[in-house]
Amino acid sequence: MSELLHLHAEQRGTRPPLRKSREIQGNVLAAFNKDHQQFRFLRFTDAKLGRTWLAAVIGYLSVTADVEDFNEAFSLGRAMFGADPQSLKATWANLSLTPAGLVKLAVNPDAVAEDLRRRDPALWMGAEARADVTGDDPEEWLFGRDEQRIHAVVTVASDCTERLQAVDTMLDLLDDLLGVVKVHQELGETLPGPLKGREHFGFKDGISQPGVRDFHEEDPHRPGHRLGHAGAVLVKPGEFVFGHDSERGDESDRTARWLHNGSLQVIRRLTQDVAGWREALEEHADALGTTPDETGALLIGRHRDGRPLAEPADPALGLGPDRNDFDYADDPWGERTPCAAHIRKTNPRSFTYRAPTQRRILRRGIPFGPPYDDNPHAERGLLFVAHCTSIREQFEFQQRVWANNPEFAGGADGAPTGTDPVIGGADGARFGGTELAFPRFVRTTGALYALVPSVSTLRLL
Ligand code: HEM
Repeated sequence: MSELLHLHAEQRGTRPPLRKSREIQGNVLAAFNKDHQQFRFLRFTDAKLGRTWLAAVIGYLSVTADVEDFNEAFSLGRAMFGADPQSLKATWANLSLTPAGLVKLAVNPDAVAEDLRRRDPALWMGAEARADVTGDDPEEWLFGRDEQRIHAVVTVASDCTERLQAVDTMLDLLDDLLGVVKVHQELGETLPGPLKGREHFGFKDGISQPGVRDFHEEDPHRPGHRLGHAGAVLVKPGEFVFGHDSERGDESDRTARWLHNGSLQVIRRLTQDVAGWREALEEHADALGTTPDETGALLIGRHRDGRPLAEPADPALGLGPDRNDFDYADDPWGERTPCAAHIRKTNPRSFTYRAPTQRRILRRGIPFGPPYDDNPHAERGLLFVAHCTSIREQFEFQQRVWANNPEFAGGADGAPTGTDPVIGGADGARFGGTELAFPRFVRTTGALYALVPSVSTLRLL
Protein backbone atom coordinates (compact mmCIF):
# COMPACT_ATOMS: atom_id res chain seq x y z
CA MET A 1 0.00 0.00 0.00
CA SER A 2 2.86 2.41 0.66
CA GLU A 3 3.85 2.06 -2.95
CA LEU A 4 0.59 2.79 -4.67
CA LEU A 5 1.29 3.53 -8.31
CA HIS A 6 -2.06 4.61 -9.62
CA LEU A 7 -2.74 7.58 -7.44
CA HIS A 8 -5.60 9.86 -8.34
CA ALA A 9 -4.54 13.28 -9.70
CA GLU A 10 -5.57 14.90 -6.44
CA GLN A 11 -3.24 12.58 -4.54
CA ARG A 12 -0.36 13.33 -6.92
CA GLY A 13 -0.36 17.01 -6.08
CA THR A 14 -2.45 18.74 -8.77
CA ARG A 15 -5.08 19.60 -6.20
CA PRO A 16 -8.37 21.38 -6.77
CA PRO A 17 -9.49 23.61 -3.87
CA LEU A 18 -10.36 21.45 -0.86
CA ARG A 19 -14.01 22.46 -1.25
CA LYS A 20 -14.08 20.62 -4.54
CA SER A 21 -12.22 17.54 -3.34
CA ARG A 22 -13.46 14.26 -4.75
CA GLU A 23 -10.88 12.41 -2.69
CA ILE A 24 -11.89 13.35 0.87
CA GLN A 25 -15.08 11.57 1.92
CA GLY A 26 -18.16 13.49 3.00
CA ASN A 27 -18.72 14.59 6.63
CA VAL A 28 -15.01 15.21 7.28
CA LEU A 29 -14.80 18.81 6.02
CA ALA A 30 -18.31 19.22 4.59
CA ALA A 31 -20.77 18.14 7.30
CA PHE A 32 -23.68 15.83 6.44
CA ASN A 33 -26.04 17.96 8.58
CA LYS A 34 -28.85 15.43 8.37
CA ASP A 35 -31.71 14.81 10.80
CA HIS A 36 -31.43 11.01 10.56
CA GLN A 37 -28.12 9.16 10.75
CA GLN A 38 -27.39 5.48 11.04
CA PHE A 39 -24.08 4.01 12.16
CA ARG A 40 -23.43 0.41 11.10
CA PHE A 41 -20.56 -1.29 12.96
CA LEU A 42 -19.31 -4.17 10.83
CA ARG A 43 -16.93 -7.13 10.82
CA PHE A 44 -15.55 -8.83 7.70
CA THR A 45 -15.39 -12.62 7.95
CA ASP A 46 -13.31 -13.10 4.82
CA ALA A 47 -10.76 -10.72 3.28
CA LYS A 48 -11.63 -11.48 -0.34
CA LEU A 49 -15.37 -11.15 0.23
CA GLY A 50 -14.67 -8.02 2.24
CA ARG A 51 -12.89 -6.47 -0.75
CA THR A 52 -15.84 -7.37 -2.99
CA TRP A 53 -18.16 -5.73 -0.45
CA LEU A 54 -15.95 -2.64 -0.49
CA ALA A 55 -16.03 -2.45 -4.29
CA ALA A 56 -19.84 -2.50 -4.15
CA VAL A 57 -20.09 0.07 -1.35
CA ILE A 58 -17.65 2.60 -2.87
CA GLY A 59 -20.26 3.70 -5.40
CA TYR A 60 -22.53 4.88 -2.59
CA LEU A 61 -19.95 6.93 -0.70
CA SER A 62 -20.17 10.70 -0.75
CA VAL A 63 -17.29 13.06 -1.46
CA THR A 64 -16.59 16.55 -0.10
CA ALA A 65 -17.40 18.39 -3.37
CA ASP A 66 -20.94 16.97 -3.59
CA VAL A 67 -21.81 17.43 0.07
CA GLU A 68 -20.45 20.99 0.02
CA ASP A 69 -22.34 21.85 -3.21
CA PHE A 70 -25.53 20.60 -1.56
CA ASN A 71 -24.85 22.54 1.65
CA GLU A 72 -24.18 25.72 -0.32
CA ALA A 73 -27.42 25.32 -2.30
CA PHE A 74 -29.27 24.70 0.96
CA SER A 75 -27.85 27.84 2.60
CA LEU A 76 -28.65 29.87 -0.50
CA GLY A 77 -32.24 28.58 -0.51
CA ARG A 78 -32.58 29.43 3.16
CA ALA A 79 -31.18 32.93 2.61
CA MET A 80 -33.56 33.52 -0.35
CA PHE A 81 -36.76 32.11 1.15
CA GLY A 82 -36.13 32.52 4.87
CA ALA A 83 -36.85 28.84 5.56
CA ASP A 84 -35.27 25.44 4.96
CA PRO A 85 -35.79 24.56 1.27
CA GLN A 86 -38.04 21.51 1.60
CA SER A 87 -37.39 20.31 -1.95
CA LEU A 88 -33.66 19.86 -1.34
CA LYS A 89 -33.10 16.41 0.08
CA ALA A 90 -30.10 14.11 0.05
CA THR A 91 -28.86 10.84 1.45
CA TRP A 92 -25.14 10.60 2.10
CA ALA A 93 -22.82 7.83 3.28
CA ASN A 94 -19.22 7.49 4.33
CA LEU A 95 -17.02 4.60 5.39
CA SER A 96 -14.34 4.34 8.04
CA LEU A 97 -12.07 1.41 8.76
CA THR A 98 -10.47 0.46 12.07
CA PRO A 99 -6.80 -0.62 12.10
CA ALA A 100 -8.05 -4.25 12.33
CA GLY A 101 -10.25 -3.65 9.27
CA LEU A 102 -7.44 -2.06 7.25
CA VAL A 103 -5.08 -4.88 8.11
CA LYS A 104 -7.75 -7.46 7.23
CA LEU A 105 -8.41 -6.00 3.76
CA ALA A 106 -4.90 -4.91 2.81
CA VAL A 107 -2.84 -7.13 0.52
CA ASN A 108 0.28 -6.04 2.44
CA PRO A 109 -0.96 -6.05 6.05
CA ASP A 110 2.48 -5.70 7.65
CA ALA A 111 3.28 -2.47 5.82
CA VAL A 112 -0.16 -1.08 6.61
CA ALA A 113 0.19 -1.96 10.28
CA GLU A 114 3.60 -0.28 10.42
CA ASP A 115 2.33 2.89 8.72
CA LEU A 116 -0.63 3.13 11.11
CA ARG A 117 1.44 2.48 14.21
CA ARG A 118 3.90 5.19 13.23
CA ARG A 119 1.29 7.72 12.20
CA ASP A 120 -1.08 7.47 15.16
CA PRO A 121 -0.27 5.18 18.08
CA ALA A 122 -3.63 5.90 19.79
CA LEU A 123 -5.54 4.84 16.67
CA TRP A 124 -3.45 1.71 16.47
CA MET A 125 -4.05 0.85 20.15
CA GLY A 126 -7.79 1.48 19.89
CA ALA A 127 -10.30 3.17 22.19
CA GLU A 128 -10.46 0.30 24.69
CA ALA A 129 -6.71 0.32 25.30
CA ARG A 130 -6.91 4.12 25.69
CA ALA A 131 -9.77 4.00 28.23
CA ASP A 132 -7.40 4.90 31.07
CA VAL A 133 -6.50 8.06 29.14
CA THR A 134 -10.10 9.11 28.47
CA GLY A 135 -11.39 7.99 31.86
CA ASP A 136 -13.90 5.50 30.43
CA ASP A 137 -15.10 2.15 31.73
CA PRO A 138 -15.27 -0.22 28.73
CA GLU A 139 -17.42 -2.62 30.79
CA GLU A 140 -20.26 -0.20 30.03
CA TRP A 141 -19.68 -0.14 26.26
CA LEU A 142 -22.18 -1.43 23.72
CA PHE A 143 -19.55 -1.20 20.98
CA GLY A 144 -15.82 -0.75 20.65
CA ARG A 145 -14.53 -3.56 22.89
CA ASP A 146 -11.61 -5.35 21.21
CA GLU A 147 -13.45 -8.68 21.43
CA GLN A 148 -16.10 -7.37 19.01
CA ARG A 149 -13.45 -6.98 16.32
CA ILE A 150 -15.18 -4.14 14.50
CA HIS A 151 -13.58 -3.59 11.10
CA ALA A 152 -15.69 -0.89 9.51
CA VAL A 153 -18.33 1.73 10.23
CA VAL A 154 -20.76 2.85 7.56
CA THR A 155 -22.49 6.13 8.38
CA VAL A 156 -25.66 6.78 6.40
CA ALA A 157 -27.24 10.21 6.77
CA SER A 158 -30.50 11.31 5.24
CA ASP A 159 -33.15 14.02 5.26
CA CYS A 160 -35.90 11.40 5.32
CA THR A 161 -36.37 8.22 7.30
CA GLU A 162 -37.82 6.34 4.29
CA ARG A 163 -34.61 6.80 2.31
CA LEU A 164 -32.54 5.79 5.30
CA GLN A 165 -34.68 2.67 5.66
CA ALA A 166 -34.26 1.82 1.97
CA VAL A 167 -30.46 2.11 2.17
CA ASP A 168 -30.51 0.06 5.37
CA THR A 169 -32.37 -2.78 3.63
CA MET A 170 -30.02 -2.66 0.66
CA LEU A 171 -26.91 -2.70 2.88
CA ASP A 172 -28.36 -5.58 4.97
CA LEU A 173 -28.66 -7.64 1.79
CA LEU A 174 -25.15 -6.78 0.67
CA ASP A 175 -23.71 -7.61 4.10
CA ASP A 176 -25.49 -10.98 4.17
CA LEU A 177 -24.33 -11.82 0.69
CA LEU A 178 -20.68 -11.06 1.36
CA GLY A 179 -20.20 -12.41 4.86
CA VAL A 180 -20.15 -9.05 6.58
CA VAL A 181 -21.51 -9.23 10.14
CA LYS A 182 -23.39 -6.29 11.61
CA VAL A 183 -21.94 -6.24 15.13
CA HIS A 184 -23.89 -3.22 16.31
CA GLN A 185 -26.03 -0.39 15.02
CA GLU A 186 -26.89 3.09 16.30
CA LEU A 187 -29.53 5.52 15.14
CA GLY A 188 -29.07 9.25 15.60
CA GLU A 189 -32.02 11.64 15.27
CA THR A 190 -32.08 15.40 15.72
CA LEU A 191 -34.56 16.33 18.44
CA PRO A 192 -38.05 17.31 17.24
CA GLY A 193 -39.87 20.66 17.19
CA PRO A 194 -38.41 23.49 19.25
CA LEU A 195 -35.57 21.21 20.42
CA LYS A 196 -34.15 20.93 16.88
CA GLY A 197 -30.43 21.67 16.88
CA ARG A 198 -30.20 21.08 20.64
CA GLU A 199 -28.66 18.29 22.69
CA HIS A 200 -30.66 16.50 25.41
CA PHE A 201 -29.80 18.90 28.25
CA GLY A 202 -31.59 21.50 26.11
CA PHE A 203 -28.65 23.55 24.80
CA LYS A 204 -28.06 24.53 21.21
CA ASP A 205 -25.15 22.45 19.87
CA GLY A 206 -22.88 22.56 16.83
CA ILE A 207 -22.17 26.29 17.03
CA SER A 208 -18.42 26.68 17.47
CA GLN A 209 -16.38 24.88 14.84
CA PRO A 210 -12.90 25.78 13.62
CA GLY A 211 -12.68 27.28 10.16
CA VAL A 212 -10.52 25.23 7.77
CA ARG A 213 -8.04 27.13 5.62
CA ASP A 214 -8.35 26.36 1.87
CA PHE A 215 -11.81 24.93 2.54
CA HIS A 216 -13.66 27.88 4.07
CA GLU A 217 -13.36 31.36 2.61
CA GLU A 218 -11.27 33.91 4.49
CA ASP A 219 -12.86 37.18 5.62
CA PRO A 220 -10.94 39.92 3.76
CA HIS A 221 -11.60 42.32 6.64
CA ARG A 222 -10.51 39.91 9.37
CA PRO A 223 -7.53 37.94 8.08
CA GLY A 224 -7.25 34.51 9.65
CA HIS A 225 -11.01 34.29 10.23
CA ARG A 226 -13.73 32.52 8.29
CA LEU A 227 -15.96 34.74 6.14
CA GLY A 228 -19.43 35.12 7.65
CA HIS A 229 -18.48 33.26 10.83
CA ALA A 230 -16.98 35.77 13.24
CA GLY A 231 -14.83 33.99 15.77
CA ALA A 232 -14.12 30.93 13.61
CA VAL A 233 -10.34 31.04 13.34
CA LEU A 234 -8.98 29.42 10.19
CA VAL A 235 -6.91 26.37 11.09
CA LYS A 236 -4.59 24.62 8.64
CA PRO A 237 -6.34 21.74 6.85
CA GLY A 238 -3.66 19.26 7.93
CA GLU A 239 -5.21 19.37 11.42
CA PHE A 240 -8.15 17.41 10.03
CA VAL A 241 -6.97 15.73 6.82
CA PHE A 242 -3.64 13.98 6.28
CA GLY A 243 -1.25 15.21 3.60
CA HIS A 244 -2.01 18.92 3.98
CA ASP A 245 -0.27 21.71 5.90
CA SER A 246 -0.70 21.25 9.62
CA GLU A 247 -0.16 23.55 12.60
CA ARG A 248 2.34 21.01 13.88
CA GLY A 249 4.61 21.57 10.89
CA ASP A 250 5.58 19.20 8.11
CA GLU A 251 4.80 15.70 9.21
CA SER A 252 4.73 14.21 5.74
CA ASP A 253 7.65 11.93 6.56
CA ARG A 254 5.48 10.27 9.19
CA THR A 255 2.43 10.05 6.96
CA ALA A 256 2.43 7.31 4.34
CA ARG A 257 1.09 8.38 0.95
CA TRP A 258 -1.94 6.10 1.17
CA LEU A 259 -3.11 8.00 4.27
CA HIS A 260 -3.26 11.31 2.37
CA ASN A 261 -6.73 12.84 2.21
CA GLY A 262 -7.82 10.50 4.99
CA SER A 263 -9.01 11.67 8.42
CA LEU A 264 -9.13 10.11 11.87
CA GLN A 265 -12.59 9.53 13.29
CA VAL A 266 -13.55 9.32 16.97
CA ILE A 267 -17.00 7.90 17.67
CA ARG A 268 -18.38 8.00 21.21
CA ARG A 269 -21.80 7.04 22.48
CA LEU A 270 -22.37 9.41 25.40
CA THR A 271 -25.41 8.58 27.53
CA GLN A 272 -26.92 11.64 29.21
CA ASP A 273 -28.70 11.64 32.58
CA VAL A 274 -31.19 14.44 32.02
CA ALA A 275 -33.06 13.89 35.32
CA GLY A 276 -29.76 14.08 37.24
CA TRP A 277 -28.74 17.22 35.36
CA ARG A 278 -32.03 18.97 36.12
CA GLU A 279 -31.91 17.97 39.78
CA ALA A 280 -28.35 19.26 40.15
CA LEU A 281 -29.30 22.58 38.54
CA GLU A 282 -32.17 23.00 41.01
CA GLU A 283 -29.96 22.15 43.94
CA HIS A 284 -26.99 24.32 42.92
CA ALA A 285 -29.16 27.28 41.90
CA ASP A 286 -29.81 27.84 45.62
CA ALA A 287 -26.10 27.71 46.47
CA LEU A 288 -25.29 30.17 43.70
CA GLY A 289 -28.27 32.41 44.42
CA THR A 290 -29.56 32.14 40.87
CA THR A 291 -32.08 30.19 38.74
CA PRO A 292 -31.64 26.63 37.43
CA ASP A 293 -31.48 28.01 33.87
CA GLU A 294 -28.70 30.43 34.79
CA THR A 295 -26.86 27.64 36.58
CA GLY A 296 -27.05 25.49 33.44
CA ALA A 297 -25.63 28.37 31.42
CA LEU A 298 -22.69 28.64 33.86
CA LEU A 299 -21.94 24.93 33.44
CA ILE A 300 -22.00 25.10 29.63
CA GLY A 301 -20.74 28.67 29.07
CA ARG A 302 -23.71 29.45 26.81
CA HIS A 303 -27.44 29.91 27.39
CA ARG A 304 -29.86 27.30 26.10
CA ASP A 305 -30.45 29.26 22.88
CA GLY A 306 -26.68 29.37 22.27
CA ARG A 307 -25.90 32.92 23.46
CA PRO A 308 -22.46 32.87 25.09
CA LEU A 309 -21.95 34.31 28.56
CA ALA A 310 -18.79 35.98 27.25
CA GLU A 311 -18.80 39.56 25.97
CA PRO A 312 -18.42 39.91 22.19
CA ALA A 313 -14.98 41.00 21.00
CA ASP A 314 -16.65 43.33 18.51
CA PRO A 315 -20.35 44.13 19.18
CA ALA A 316 -20.63 45.51 15.63
CA LEU A 317 -20.55 41.91 14.37
CA GLY A 318 -23.97 41.24 15.88
CA LEU A 319 -25.29 39.66 19.05
CA GLY A 320 -27.14 36.65 17.63
CA PRO A 321 -27.39 33.34 19.52
CA ASP A 322 -24.71 31.71 17.32
CA ARG A 323 -22.24 34.38 18.38
CA ASN A 324 -18.73 33.01 18.47
CA ASP A 325 -16.46 36.06 18.37
CA PHE A 326 -15.14 36.08 21.90
CA ASP A 327 -12.26 34.93 24.00
CA TYR A 328 -11.61 34.99 27.73
CA ALA A 329 -8.85 37.59 27.84
CA ASP A 330 -11.20 40.08 29.54
CA ASP A 331 -12.38 37.45 32.03
CA PRO A 332 -9.24 35.88 33.53
CA TRP A 333 -10.93 34.78 36.78
CA GLY A 334 -13.93 33.28 35.08
CA GLU A 335 -16.40 35.80 36.47
CA ARG A 336 -18.59 35.79 33.34
CA THR A 337 -17.70 32.39 31.89
CA PRO A 338 -16.53 30.07 34.68
CA CYS A 339 -13.13 28.51 33.94
CA ALA A 340 -14.78 25.08 34.31
CA ALA A 341 -17.63 25.78 31.86
CA HIS A 342 -17.75 23.08 29.16
CA ILE A 343 -16.98 25.41 26.25
CA ARG A 344 -14.10 27.06 28.10
CA LYS A 345 -12.57 23.73 29.15
CA THR A 346 -12.74 22.28 25.64
CA ASN A 347 -11.62 25.47 23.87
CA PRO A 348 -9.78 27.91 26.11
CA ARG A 349 -9.46 30.31 23.14
CA SER A 350 -5.83 31.38 23.30
CA PHE A 351 -5.90 33.31 26.58
CA THR A 352 -4.70 30.52 28.83
CA TYR A 353 -3.23 28.21 26.27
CA ARG A 354 -0.37 28.75 23.86
CA ALA A 355 -1.24 26.52 20.93
CA PRO A 356 -5.03 26.61 20.62
CA THR A 357 -5.07 25.90 16.89
CA GLN A 358 -3.37 22.53 17.43
CA ARG A 359 -6.13 21.12 19.62
CA ARG A 360 -9.22 21.73 17.51
CA ILE A 361 -11.56 19.00 16.29
CA LEU A 362 -14.41 19.01 13.79
CA ARG A 363 -17.53 17.91 15.69
CA ARG A 364 -20.20 15.95 13.80
CA GLY A 365 -22.39 14.61 16.62
CA ILE A 366 -26.12 13.86 16.62
CA PRO A 367 -28.45 13.00 19.53
CA PHE A 368 -29.93 9.54 20.03
CA GLY A 369 -33.06 8.63 21.98
CA PRO A 370 -36.31 10.58 22.53
CA PRO A 371 -36.54 13.91 24.38
CA TYR A 372 -36.67 13.43 28.15
CA ASP A 373 -40.13 14.94 28.50
CA ASP A 374 -41.57 12.51 25.90
CA ASN A 375 -40.26 9.43 27.68
CA PRO A 376 -38.21 9.90 30.88
CA HIS A 377 -37.39 6.17 31.10
CA ALA A 378 -35.74 5.76 27.69
CA GLU A 379 -31.98 5.97 27.26
CA ARG A 380 -30.70 9.06 25.46
CA GLY A 381 -27.51 10.91 24.69
CA LEU A 382 -25.13 12.11 22.04
CA LEU A 383 -23.48 10.09 19.29
CA PHE A 384 -20.32 12.17 19.37
CA VAL A 385 -18.27 12.04 16.16
CA ALA A 386 -15.08 14.04 15.71
CA HIS A 387 -12.39 14.37 13.03
CA CYS A 388 -8.72 15.18 13.52
CA THR A 389 -5.25 13.99 12.46
CA SER A 390 -3.90 13.17 15.90
CA ILE A 391 -6.16 11.40 18.37
CA ARG A 392 -3.73 12.00 21.22
CA GLU A 393 -3.01 15.66 20.53
CA GLN A 394 -6.54 16.71 19.61
CA PHE A 395 -9.54 14.70 20.86
CA GLU A 396 -7.79 12.96 23.77
CA PHE A 397 -6.01 16.17 24.72
CA GLN A 398 -9.33 17.99 25.10
CA GLN A 399 -10.74 15.12 27.14
CA ARG A 400 -7.74 14.22 29.33
CA VAL A 401 -5.60 17.35 29.72
CA TRP A 402 -8.44 19.84 29.76
CA ALA A 403 -11.89 18.38 30.61
CA ASN A 404 -10.83 15.66 33.10
CA ASN A 405 -8.07 17.73 34.69
CA PRO A 406 -9.15 19.86 37.67
CA GLU A 407 -5.96 21.96 37.42
CA PHE A 408 -6.78 23.23 33.91
CA ALA A 409 -7.26 26.16 33.40
CA GLY A 410 -6.89 27.67 36.77
CA GLY A 411 -7.70 31.22 35.75
CA ALA A 412 -5.41 34.13 36.51
CA ASP A 413 -5.34 33.42 40.25
CA GLY A 414 -3.99 29.94 39.48
CA ALA A 415 -6.46 28.18 41.77
CA PRO A 416 -7.68 24.82 40.45
CA THR A 417 -10.83 25.01 38.43
CA GLY A 418 -12.32 21.55 38.75
CA THR A 419 -13.40 19.10 36.08
CA ASP A 420 -15.69 19.82 33.12
CA PRO A 421 -19.20 19.36 34.58
CA VAL A 422 -20.51 17.93 31.27
CA ILE A 423 -17.83 15.45 30.20
CA GLY A 424 -15.19 15.47 32.95
CA GLY A 425 -14.86 13.16 35.93
CA ALA A 426 -17.38 13.86 38.68
CA ASP A 427 -14.98 15.72 40.96
CA GLY A 428 -16.81 19.02 41.11
CA ALA A 429 -15.79 22.50 40.02
CA ARG A 430 -15.62 26.11 41.14
CA PHE A 431 -18.25 28.56 39.98
CA GLY A 432 -17.70 32.17 41.00
CA GLY A 433 -15.88 31.18 44.15
CA THR A 434 -18.46 28.54 45.07
CA GLU A 435 -17.33 24.93 45.10
CA LEU A 436 -19.98 22.63 43.56
CA ALA A 437 -20.01 18.83 43.55
CA PHE A 438 -21.53 16.94 40.62
CA PRO A 439 -22.44 13.38 39.88
CA ARG A 440 -21.50 12.14 36.39
CA PHE A 441 -24.22 13.30 33.99
CA VAL A 442 -22.55 11.78 30.92
CA ARG A 443 -21.28 8.21 30.70
CA THR A 444 -19.45 6.71 27.74
CA THR A 445 -21.39 3.68 26.51
CA GLY A 446 -19.43 2.96 23.33
CA ALA A 447 -16.20 4.22 21.74
CA LEU A 448 -14.22 3.57 18.60
CA TYR A 449 -11.22 5.05 16.76
CA ALA A 450 -11.09 4.64 12.97
CA LEU A 451 -9.71 6.08 9.74
CA VAL A 452 -11.89 7.59 7.01
CA PRO A 453 -9.61 6.79 4.05
CA SER A 454 -9.48 8.75 0.81
CA VAL A 455 -11.53 7.43 -2.11
CA SER A 456 -8.36 6.41 -4.02
CA THR A 457 -7.12 4.40 -1.07
CA LEU A 458 -10.44 2.57 -0.76
CA ARG A 459 -10.28 1.76 -4.48
CA LEU A 460 -6.82 0.29 -4.10
CA LEU A 461 -7.56 -1.94 -1.12
C1 HEM B 1 -19.39 22.83 22.59
C2 HEM B 1 -22.63 19.93 24.72
C3 HEM B 1 -19.41 16.28 24.59
C4 HEM B 1 -16.06 19.31 22.89
C5 HEM B 1 -20.55 22.36 23.16
C6 HEM B 1 -21.77 23.12 23.33
C7 HEM B 1 -22.68 22.30 23.92
C8 HEM B 1 -22.04 21.03 24.12
C9 HEM B 1 -24.12 22.64 24.32
C10 HEM B 1 -21.98 24.59 22.95
C11 HEM B 1 -22.43 24.77 21.53
C12 HEM B 1 -21.33 24.79 20.51
O1 HEM B 1 -20.43 25.64 20.53
O2 HEM B 1 -21.37 23.93 19.64
C13 HEM B 1 -22.03 18.68 24.87
C14 HEM B 1 -22.66 17.53 25.46
C15 HEM B 1 -21.77 16.50 25.40
C16 HEM B 1 -20.55 17.02 24.81
C17 HEM B 1 -24.08 17.52 26.04
C18 HEM B 1 -21.91 15.09 25.87
C19 HEM B 1 -23.06 14.44 25.95
C20 HEM B 1 -18.20 16.79 24.16
C21 HEM B 1 -16.97 16.05 24.06
C22 HEM B 1 -16.02 16.91 23.60
C23 HEM B 1 -16.68 18.19 23.39
C24 HEM B 1 -16.78 14.56 24.40
C25 HEM B 1 -14.56 16.66 23.34
C26 HEM B 1 -13.79 15.96 24.13
C27 HEM B 1 -16.70 20.49 22.62
C28 HEM B 1 -16.05 21.61 21.98
C29 HEM B 1 -17.00 22.64 21.90
C30 HEM B 1 -18.22 22.11 22.49
C31 HEM B 1 -14.61 21.67 21.45
C32 HEM B 1 -16.82 24.02 21.30
C33 HEM B 1 -16.21 24.94 22.32
C34 HEM B 1 -15.96 26.31 21.73
O3 HEM B 1 -15.23 26.37 20.73
O4 HEM B 1 -16.49 27.29 22.25
N1 HEM B 1 -20.74 21.09 23.66
N2 HEM B 1 -20.76 18.34 24.50
N3 HEM B 1 -18.00 18.08 23.75
N4 HEM B 1 -18.00 20.82 22.92
FE1 HEM B 1 -19.34 19.61 23.77
